[in-house]
Amino acid sequence: MSQLMMRWSIRIALLAWLVALPMSSGLRGQTPAASALPLPVERTGAELYRAACAACHATDGTGAPRSLVGFALPLPDFTDCAFTSVEPYADWLAIGHQGGPVRGFDRKMPAFGDALSEEEILRTLKHIKDFCEDPAWAPGDLNLPRALVTEKAFPENEAVLTTTTGGSELGAVTNEVLYEKRFGSRNQLEVAVPLSLKESTAGWSRGLGDVKVAVKRVLHHSLATGTIVSAAGEVVLPTGKESLGLGKGVTIFEPFITAGQILPRNSFIHAQAGVEVPADRDLAVPEAFWRGAIGTTIEQGRFGRAWSPIFEVLGARELESGQRVQWDLVPQMQVTLNKRQHLMINAGVRIPVADRGERRAQVITYFLWDWFDGGLRDGW
Ligand code: HEC
Repeated sequence: MSQLMMRWSIRIALLAWLVALPMSSGLRGQTPAASALPLPVERTGAELYRAACAACHATDGTGAPRSLVGFALPLPDFTDCAFTSVEPYADWLAIGHQGGPVRGFDRKMPAFGDALSEEEILRTLKHIKDFCEDPAWAPGDLNLPRALVTEKAFPENEAVLTTTTGGSELGAVTNEVLYEKRFGSRNQLEVAVPLSLKESTAGWSRGLGDVKVAVKRVLHHSLATGTIVSAAGEVVLPTGKESLGLGKGVTIFEPFITAGQILPRNSFIHAQAGVEVPADRDLAVPEAFWRGAIGTTIEQGRFGRAWSPIFEVLGARELESGQRVQWDLVPQMQVTLNKRQHLMINAGVRIPVADRGERRAQVITYFLWDWFDGGLRDGW
């Protein structure tokens, strides 16, 4: 090799080394393992779940044993559809993001808001939801806020105490206890027991009103379209003394259809239509009714108290020639009371607008307890 070639090859090697030096020092910040991996890919819900949640909730979603987690607090069983299907994503996102205490649960359920994006938490929650393998259970996202009068389509586990005052020129107060319980994946049984205090020309009377028993069944639900439709059959029993104005004095059958629809921006509608058919046509006239409610939910701060203004329109008409439609409007406000949001109240006024006749405005309030989500003292 000539001297000249030797000098040139040294110069080229030197140059190559000078060029390579900053590049290799740039790489030095990375761990060899990371630089050897392919570009980062989006982690699936299952991967995120296994990495972040399975230590406590177990890979199969049933909850890791006490000996492994080191605490006695029972873990939920995510394979139990009765539990997993009814919880809306919004509540679980709050828990996954902020930790258990945001919904009045234990702080052993950690907050992942700093470690995972909301998108990643939602993907993980989808994986948890999939532990329930029976699609017959309607998702809790379709459980829309309950209006004062219009019956909703979602099958519930709840107790509602409704107080109604006014309605006529004379005094009247009715307290109704309603108990609802789900059975099977699609059905719900309900019993309503009213206790009334009524004024008549003969004075005040007090007693049991007409007890109602109903069965409801979900016919269709779809989270993709935000729709739920149910059919129900109700029987009103003549347990209230008609002579004292406490009841209608006749058994009434009341079949109805009810539907709920999610609208954009946390809004929703309920619609219900049915007929009241008395067992004895001589004692009462059949009546058709239709009801609609539109509302929206406003969160007080991120993951805070939920306020739901709702507006109902109620129509009813006795199925006899010459009868007019009775229209009522019911503006109202529902608000959650505690962090768990399973206790709430609603208050509104039922205002007759057409064919008022003897009818006067009524003040209606309810206290609602979603007993499946915890006791009255839980979740504050
Ligand atoms: C350190 C243990 C632990 C880890 C890790 C953990 N959890 Fe939990 N989680 C709990 C405990 C304990 C409860 C029950 C809390 C209670 O009943 O007060 C719970 C409850 C829940 C609930 C049920 C809330 C309800 O409505 O009853 C959800 C949903 C949940 N966790 C989601 C997750 C997700 C998602 C992850 C992973 C991103 C995760 N958890 C990781 C301990 C944990």
